[in-house]
Amino acid sequence: MSDYAYLLYLLSSVLFILALKGLSSPESARRGNVYGMVGMVIAIGTTLTLPVVTNYMLIALGIAIGGAVGISIARKIQMTAMPQLVAAFHSLVGLAAVLIAAGALWSPESYGIGNSGSIKPGSLIELSLGAVIGAITFSGSVIAFAKLQGIMSGKPLRFAGQHMINACIGIGIVVVLFMFCFSESKMLFIVMTAAAFALGFLLIVPIGGADMPVVVSMLNSYSGWAASGIGFTLGNPLLIITGALVGSSGAILSYIMCKAMNRSIINVIFGGFGDSAAVDASGGPANDKPIKSGSPEDAAFLLKNSSSVIIVPGYGMAVAQAQHAVREMAQALEKEGIKVRYAIHPVAGRMPGHMNVLLAEANVPYDSVQELEEINNDFATTDVAFVIGANDVTNPAAKNNPQSPIYGMPVLDVANAKTVIFNKRSMAAGYAGIENELFFQDNTMMLFGDAKKVTEELVKALKA
Ligand code: TAP
Repeated sequence: MSDYAYLLYLLSSVLFILALKGLSSPESARRGNVYGMVGMVIAIGTTLTLPVVTNYMLIALGIAIGGAVGISIARKIQMTAMPQLVAAFHSLVGLAAVLIAAGALWSPESYGIGNSGSIKPGSLIELSLGAVIGAITFSGSVIAFAKLQGIMSGKPLRFAGQHMINACIGIGIVVVLFMFCFSESKMLFIVMTAAAFALGFLLIVPIGGADMPVVVSMLNSYSGWAASGIGFTLGNPLLIITGALVGSSGAILSYIMCKAMNRSIINVIFGGFGDSAAVDASGGPANDKPIKSGSPEDAAFLLKNSSSVIIVPGYGMAVAQAQHAVREMAQALEKEGIKVRYAIHPVAGRMPGHMNVLLAEANVPYDSVQELEEINNDFATTDVAFVIGANDVTNPAAKNNPQSPIYGMPVLDVANAKTVIFNKRSMAAGYAGIENELFFQDNTMMLFGDAKKVTEELVKALKA
């Protein structure tokens, strides 16, 4: 590789790091994306000029087909289906790692790692690690996709001796990997990769739906490490750096998500958070406790007579695509001199930053959007907490019920506001499948209905 190629790869790496930095805040996220795109164009352009690249026709065909499929999926995909899309894409990264490793083993000369039967020992280790991690990522991501898409039940699938079987397969893979590195046997490579595919499947099936986004982020991390391993095989420094960036940022994200849900990563991997038996999917009141409910006009009256409002968005706002109506409501209130802010829980919705993205799309000013730690104490001095499609992230059980599956998770203290308006369609539970005591509180008014429809009616009432 020439010096200029190294230099351009270095430039791409710096741009990727700037992209990650930009993505850490909604304000700089667009800029971050641009850095990432420019970095990728430079990376691909540089790779295409390398002397090892000879068949431009095949590459152009691959880019055309892949690009067309990617554009059509990206245009159609719903925001709420993003986690399963990410899982599906990661499965391809894993599969690519396996295929490159296989290609390197069958044709080492093309990769410059030696000749068939005498591949360099370092390269054998790298390609086997890439194949194993890639295979686990592939089958694990396929299962995560199937669970999130509803093709497979989101409930944890468990059977006796599961952990023991997984441990045996894991140890078996390590043993075969060593034997393969000494013998360079293609048969052992196939056995090792097949066992890794099985392990990916077995590792993910016992994990419940609610933990799946953490799993997707972990699989993202694995796919990065697989790519990094393959970068060593290909002797490509940019792939090594980019894989390491994806691997470490995915691992950090998993850690942040686990922290926000007060779950240990080990607990997520071996637990079953999503198999909550308490879900009241009937849509009817979970018990006979009385509740107060009102109309959009009642809600408009309460809001108009307040001086401060905190809006708490959640998954339901995303499903209903109510963010524009919410923004309109906030503008109508601000016109009346009412202070409006938004409280964002780190795991509101179904993916990190879900609410920030939706609010940014509706042009909500960044300075009115505040994180849990910044705003939580302010509920006590706020007139109305307007909860729209959120549930678990407001549930006081996280603080006062040690038996609750969400016990210990930090929650938004909406109960402390003078009045709580709770918009959702029914009394059904949220993702964690547990009842929310807030619905029965004296200062809570339930506002039943689809988030978008109800908010639009509320805006009409405010403007009337
Ligand atoms: P949830 O607790 O899931 O509650 C969302 C509520 O929205 C539901 O109770 C549902 O009630 C309501 N809803 C659904 N569609 C609606 C619509 N069209 N209009 C109005 N309401 C609607 O959401 P949350 O409070 O945002 O909490 C997120 C949950 O996901 C947490 O348990 C969190 O741990 C979990 N989770 C999040 C992440 C990330 S990174 N965000 C990752 C893993 C897990 P109805 O059916 O009665 O309408």
